[in-house]
Amino acid sequence: MITIDAQKCVRDGFCVQACPANLIRMDGGSVPEEIDGAADRCIRCGHCVAVCPTNALDNALTPAGDYFPTPEKRPDAEAMENLLVSRRSARSFRKKPVSREQLERLLETARRSPTASNSQKLSWTMIQDAQRLDRVRELSLEWMGGDPARSHYVESARQGRDVILRNATALAVVHGPADYAWTAIDGTIALTYMELLAATMGLGTCWAGLVTAASKAVPDLLPVLGVPEGSQVGGAIMLGHPRLKHLLIPPRNAARVTWL
Ligand SMILES: Cc1cc2nc3c(=O)[nH]c(=O)nc-3n(C[C@H](O)[C@H](O)[C@H](O)COP(=O)(O)O)c2cc1C
Repeated sequence: MITIDAQKCVRDGFCVQACPANLIRMDGGSVPEEIDGAADRCIRCGHCVAVCPTNALDNALTPAGDYFPTPEKRPDAEAMENLLVSRRSARSFRKKPVSREQLERLLETARRSPTASNSQKLSWTMIQDAQRLDRVRELSLEWMGGDPARSHYVESARQGRDVILRNATALAVVHGPADYAWTAIDGTIALTYMELLAATMGLGTCWAGLVTAASKAVPDLLPVLGVPEGSQVGGAIMLGHPRLKHLLIPPRNAARVTWL
C-alpha cells in the first residue's frame, strides 16, 4: 500500500505520527514501512501523504496525484467568528432558484467534512422540483397533524403558511445506511459545512428538522426524499435566496461550562 522514495525520505517520522491507525512504523533510522495487514486497516484519510514535506511517500489507496495543495489563504479567527455568529436561519425566500453551479459548489465542500473513521458513507438528494417539494410539505404536514404539540404549525399551514419548507426553492437531504451508527452525526456536520459556505455565497439556509423528524415516522416520505431502502435521513436543510437581511446578532445563553 505504501511506497517510500528512500532518496527523498528524510526520516522525520511525520507519517508515523500522522497515521490514526498506527499502520506505519520506523525502526531505528530506517525508512518508514507499513505493518502487516495495513491495507486492510487503512481508513484512507490521506494524512500520511499530506504531511510528508518531501513527497517521499505515496499510498496506493489515496494516490499522491489525487491531492491538491492546502490553500495559503484561509479566514483568520476573527473572520471565522464573524461568519459563525452572523449565520442565521432564513425563513423567507425569493422565488429565484439556486443555480446548479451553486449547489454543486456546496456539495463539493460538504463532501469533505469529517466522517467517523473517514467512512464517507453519506449520500445526497438535492430537490428543486416544485411538485416534489410540495409532496414533502404534504407528507410532513400529515405527520404533524397527529401530534397535538405541533397543532399551531398545522393551523398556520391551514392559513397558507409554508411551515415545513418556508418557501425555500431547494432542499438538501443527506442520508446514509440505516445500520450505520454515525449517519445523523456525519450528516449534521456535512450540512453544517454546507450551511456556512452557503452563507458566504449569499444564500439563505434553514434546518429542515420537521422534514427529518417526519422521515423517521412516514415511510412514504423516504422515496420522495430520494432515500433508498436500507438508508435513513441524516438531516436536511432548506436553501434559497433570502429575502431578509439580519442587521443584529440576537442574544444567546451564556455557555454552560464546567471547568475541571
Ligand atoms: C436540528 C435543527 C432542526 C431545525 N428545524 C427547523 C425547522 O424544521 N423549521 C425551522 O423553521 N427552523 C428549524 N431550525 C432552526 C432553529 O429554529 C434555529 O436554528 C434557531 O431558532 C436559532 O436561530 P438561528 O439559526 O438564526 O441562530 C432547526 C435547527 C436545528 C439545529
